[in-house]
Amino acid sequence: MGEKNKFDIISHNYQVDVKGRRALNNHNSFLIWFTGFSGSGKSTIANLVELELHKMGIKTYLLDGDNVRKGLNTDLTFTPKDRTENIRRIAETANLMVDSGLVVLAAFISPYKKDRENIKTIVKAINYIEIYINTSIEICEQRDVKGLYKKARNGEIKNMTGISAPYEAPENPDIEIKTEDGTVKKAVEYILEYIKPKLKYSNE
Ligand code: ADX
Repeated sequence: MGEKNKFDIISHNYQVDVKGRRALNNHNSFLIWFTGFSGSGKSTIANLVELELHKMGIKTYLLDGDNVRKGLNTDLTFTPKDRTENIRRIAETANLMVDSGLVVLAAFISPYKKDRENIKTIVKAINYIEIYINTSIEICEQRDVKGLYKKARNGEIKNMTGISAPYEAPENPDIEIKTEDGTVKKAVEYILEYIKPKLKYSNE
């Protein structure tokens, strides 16, 4: 990491490129990134957005803790350094998937602003949509779907976001969903309305 061109890697000019793949799919490809506390509703909303896109004939893939922290990133913990590496690897994976022509949805706490900036650099700003699932820590802790907040309060879990680790809220997300003000259904509809025009593929 860090040293560019360390191994003198020279890019090939691929015969099939992202434009060709998007044209074949007849839709654009990009990354939709969901950030927010554990239990904020990120995965629930991302899943339903993916389902609607799938029904529309859009080729998608969802990245979240279940398929990334249990596999690719099984070696990583929740220290700031490991979270940065978690997000970097996910962004690089998402970048390949966007290049492959998919609409990628990613639901991760991603608590650090600099890490989210890095995602944008990796996939390029034009391919990045940031959605802030804004559910207060009080509500997330009340719900405590996974029982993790209780464990964090008991000291059984360290570095718990919102309890013993920070969350840097996005200042300028493309979309902010205040889950306490509306239903999941409305949130999904709102996100889809924003995404739909961006799906159109144009061969420029
Ligand atoms: S991130 O901060 O590196 O983006 P990520 O989204 O991959 O986090 O993982 C968060 C999930 O891991 C939570 O939804 C929760 O289920 C679980 N988890 C386990 N320990 C922690 C912790 N200390 N802080 C936050 N989430 C944790």
